[in-house]
Amino acid sequence: MNITVFLGAPGSGKGTQAKQLSESFGFTHLSTGDMLRAAIKQKLPVGLKAKSYMDQGNLVPDSVMIEVLEEALAPLKDTAKVILDGFPRTVPQAEALDKNQKTRVNRAINFQVPEKILISRLTGRRTCPNCGESYHLVFIPPIKADTCDKCATKLIQRTDDSEDVVQRRLDVFKTQNQGLLDYFSGQNKLMTLDADKPVTNIQSEILRVLER
Ligand code: AP5
Repeated sequence: MNITVFLGAPGSGKGTQAKQLSESFGFTHLSTGDMLRAAIKQKLPVGLKAKSYMDQGNLVPDSVMIEVLEEALAPLKDTAKVILDGFPRTVPQAEALDKNQKTRVNRAINFQVPEKILISRLTGRRTCPNCGESYHLVFIPPIKADTCDKCATKLIQRTDDSEDVVQRRLDVFKTQNQGLLDYFSGQNKLMTLDADKPVTNIQSEILRVLER
C-alpha cells in the first residue's frame, strides 16, 4: 500500500483535506475519529470503550486503536493509496504500522496552525451527522444556515468541540506530537505544511507532495 499519514493538532484541517482528496483523487480516507464516532452511534463494544476517553478529550488506549486500524486496513488491496487521518497519535501506534511490510508508512505530512486559530476552527465547526461533511460557521459556512449543502441534514456541533474539551485535546496533542515528529523525521519521511491558508492552497501543496 501507499500510506500517507496526516499529523497535526485537532482542528488543523486534516479531515477537511483528506475528505476532498478521497472524493476528487481516489485516495482511501481512513479517519479513526470517524470510525470511533460511528461505533458509538451503533453502540458497538469498541464505541462504548472509547466514549468516555473521547468525551474528556483524552486519547483512546493504543491497544484499542491499533486493533481498530488493523481491521480497517486488512480488506484493502496492496495497490491502495491510503490517507490516515488521526492515526498514528503516539509512537507505539506508528511502530505498529511499520511492523507490517504491507502497512509501512511512506510519508507523513504535518499540518501546522497557530493555537489561537485552532481554537476558533474547532469551536466554530459544525458537522453533518448523516454524511460527515464538515463546515465552519465563519470560514466555511453552509449555503443555508445549520443545514448540510450535500444532504440537507441539520448540522450538529461535536460534543468534544466545546471550549473546555478543546483545550484538553490540544494539551494531550502537545504531549505526543514531538515524539511522532522525531519518529518520522528520523526516517526522512516528514514534511511540514503551513496549514493556516485557504483550503484550496493547502490541497495543491499536498498534491505536489503526494505526486513526488
Ligand atoms: P479526531 O476525530 O481524529 O479529532 P482530531 O484529531 O482532534 O481532529 P479534528 O477532527 O478535530 O480536526 P481536523 O484536523 O480533522 O480538522 P478539520 O478538517 O475537521 O479524534 C477525536 C477523538 O477520538 C480524539 O480526541 C481521541 O479521543 C479519539 N481518537 C481518534 N483517533 C485516535 C487515535 N489514533 N488514538 C487515540 N485516540 C484517538 O477542520 C476543523 C475546522 O476548521 C472545520 O470547521 C473546518 O471547516 C475548518 N477548516 C479546515 N481547514 C480550514 C482552512 N484551511 N481554513 C479555515 N478553516 C478550515
